[in-house]
Amino acid sequence: MSERHGHHHAHGEHGHEGHAGHHGHAGHEPDLDWREMAEALETEAELYADGVRLMLGWLDEVLNTTGGGSPERVLDVGSGPGINTTLLAEAFPEAQVVAVDGSPELLERAAHHAERLGLADRISTRRAELPQDAAGLGRAGLVWSSRVVHHVGDQQQALKALAGAVEDGGALAVVEGGLSARYLPRDIGFGRPGLATRLEALREEWFTRMRDGLPGLVSVVEHWPALLAEAGLRPVGSRTFLTEIRDPLPAAVRRHVHGQLTRSRERLAEELESDDLATLDRLLDEDSPEGVLHRPDLFLLTANTVHAAVRDPS
Ligand SMILES: C[S@@+](CC[C@H](N)C(=O)[O-])C[C@H]1O[C@@H](n2cnc3c(N)ncnc32)[C@H](O)[C@@H]1O
Repeated sequence: MSERHGHHHAHGEHGHEGHAGHHGHAGHEPDLDWREMAEALETEAELYADGVRLMLGWLDEVLNTTGGGSPERVLDVGSGPGINTTLLAEAFPEAQVVAVDGSPELLERAAHHAERLGLADRISTRRAELPQDAAGLGRAGLVWSSRVVHHVGDQQQALKALAGAVEDGGALAVVEGGLSARYLPRDIGFGRPGLATRLEALREEWFTRMRDGLPGLVSVVEHWPALLAEAGLRPVGSRTFLTEIRDPLPAAVRRHVHGQLTRSRERLAEELESDDLATLDRLLDEDSPEGVLHRPDLFLLTANTVHAAVRDPS
């Protein structure tokens, strides 16, 4: 199911996985890497905010039709720096919203962000690790978890833990999957056409290696509605929101794409053919008019999917 509007985010997702949250740091300068990753997550969430607003509008309808009504309490599990948390607070004005994450640093950013927007009285933060700490979170009329479950070795167990926090008449919404982001035309005037597809294939392998490294890994068919049903809820649908940003392209999009391609280059340097590496280097050249920071044909196009399920009142 696809709705052609909205700006939502990141299955670029795969682009950001490595940040590894609180699980570790990627390079030689952990603090710098950490800050960069937090800022990249923030920028990404901001670029996709319109799409998230549309997702939340749909969830509002879902809650109205299933009798849940406007939630008084919302959990944003795996909130990261809390951009979505503030969107949840705006979409559900009667709710107290809790940003939950395993990373205290990101929660600190979430608290600052809430304060900046004057939402500090409605947003709190809570450190917790999924799945083991979920039982202590209490119940909520809406449990939202965007791009988090795939960080957990046993995804079914993670969904069961999230489902356990859904009150009667409430909903669980999980953002997973969608389509990888595209930034450039097929032929960019140099290099071999089709770079995006080759990068995507290598990123899928990288993603599998990332998951293989997670503790307690369990393979499941990633059929989200079925996994939500197995977690004891009633699936009510999946919706996909397209993000398309073109002319005039904000500088933030250029920096975001530059960051995504830089991460791909770092992670995939061993696997990429040398001609593709050379193409990436030209695209990443900050001074060149051919680079993504300056070229006129750059855009951001991606799609993200939210899967929802409800707990029918007993
Ligand atoms: C890709 S980010 C998504 C951030 C935000 N929800 C969004 O969609 O923009 C994943 C977040 O989940 C958190 N996380 C990953 N594994 C977790 C776990 N097992 N328990 C709690 N938080 C976790 C990370 O710290 C990170 O903030």
